[in-house]
Amino acid sequence: MPEKNISGQNLKSLSKTASELPQSGIRRFFDIASQMANVISLGVGEPDFATPWTVREAAIYSIEKGQTTYTSNLGLIELRREISKLNFKRYGVEYNPDTEILITTGVAQGLDLVARALLDPGDEVIIPEPCFVSYKPCVSLAGGIPVPVETNDTNNFQVSLAELEKKVTPRTKAILIGHPSNPTGAILERETLIEIVNFACKHGLYIISDEIYDRLTFDGDHVMVASLPGAFERTITLNGFSKTYAMTGWRIGYACAPPEILHTMMKIHSYTMLSAPTPGQKAALEAARRGERDAVLMAAEYKRRRSLIVGGLNEIGLTCLNPGGAFYAFPSVRSTGLTSEQFAEQLLYSKQVAVVPGSVFGLGGEGHVRCSYATDSKLLKEALVRIGSFVDELSKVSVQPQSPKQKTDQLV
Ligand SMILES: Cc1ncc(COP(=O)(O)O)c(C=O)c1O
Repeated sequence: MPEKNISGQNLKSLSKTASELPQSGIRRFFDIASQMANVISLGVGEPDFATPWTVREAAIYSIEKGQTTYTSNLGLIELRREISKLNFKRYGVEYNPDTEILITTGVAQGLDLVARALLDPGDEVIIPEPCFVSYKPCVSLAGGIPVPVETNDTNNFQVSLAELEKKVTPRTKAILIGHPSNPTGAILERETLIEIVNFACKHGLYIISDEIYDRLTFDGDHVMVASLPGAFERTITLNGFSKTYAMTGWRIGYACAPPEILHTMMKIHSYTMLSAPTPGQKAALEAARRGERDAVLMAAEYKRRRSLIVGGLNEIGLTCLNPGGAFYAFPSVRSTGLTSEQFAEQLLYSKQVAVVPGSVFGLGGEGHVRCSYATDSKLLKEALVRIGSFVDELSKVSVQPQSPKQKTDQLV
């Protein structure tokens, strides 16, 4: 029976699952910030560097040569071989490039594929939060049920085994972790990862491990989850070129998993994407072969900026842990008496600095804001001055929570 939609047309309703998806809280802030002048954005989670020139040139050359067709569904074999070599060199983990590596359109697509490959309707996925904003929607869109587990700054956002055990049910299929973490920058310690692997083994679960920031660790070596005892056969590793090589717009990522899992993901990919963009794959090949120097230089610059922003925020009185990786600081704003949403909105309107309220990243995020330091040092310094003066002014007036009416007016 046709239904009337709001505009009175004779149309059935849109998908309930899709309609009920919340709009990305990050996007909303970008939209507001993009309408304002003189904004310093610490909101965007992408490198401020252009892709290294040699990488761009490799893609231009391939286009000039007319290499503009689809590739194999799995992606260019040369690229898969390079990824396989790098995994082995860095982490001692060996994935067969013929059957265990799939080139995706970014980790974003890898997340979608893995959720659809693993889940039947009603299957549950345990997700430590705060976490990247796409994790829950990808699980929901695949018919699964995201089951959040809170982590917080009192123990540096480590996942507690006791909390995991409380959430597991007969419907639990997988645990989805991202480390280093967006938004907190926290790194899961080796002991925590071993506990997660043992937990997954005990309950027969898959581990989905988003390691897109693996090359952005500042105080020690990254631990690849699949390298831990018992992990390989149940782990799907997602990674990509966006962050390490400043290649967000090229849309190239990859999934590594044992053959049966990878084959199932590849089938979905072959119907819905066919193959990742060919110029992007050519660019990624160049990055994988010769991009190391640029990657190291960019990582060193992020590390310098980390000291700048973490030191600056702590001086202002916004307590901030030293993030071990990625390029996000996640200071506490509790001392201001504002919620994270109020803090971000008022800071944007009064000082034109865009940060993301921690509440959009799920449990454990409230009371914090995410500040990306993939932002030029000069701008970071200016942003710190503005945040400092905002907090100073707040401390001089008693803070009145905004009424919903005021909030709506401001957002229009
Ligand atoms: C943790 C995490 N995973 C995945 C992505 C998406 O990456 P890609 O550009 O490879 O799709 C991001 C982007 O911000 C991210 O922070």
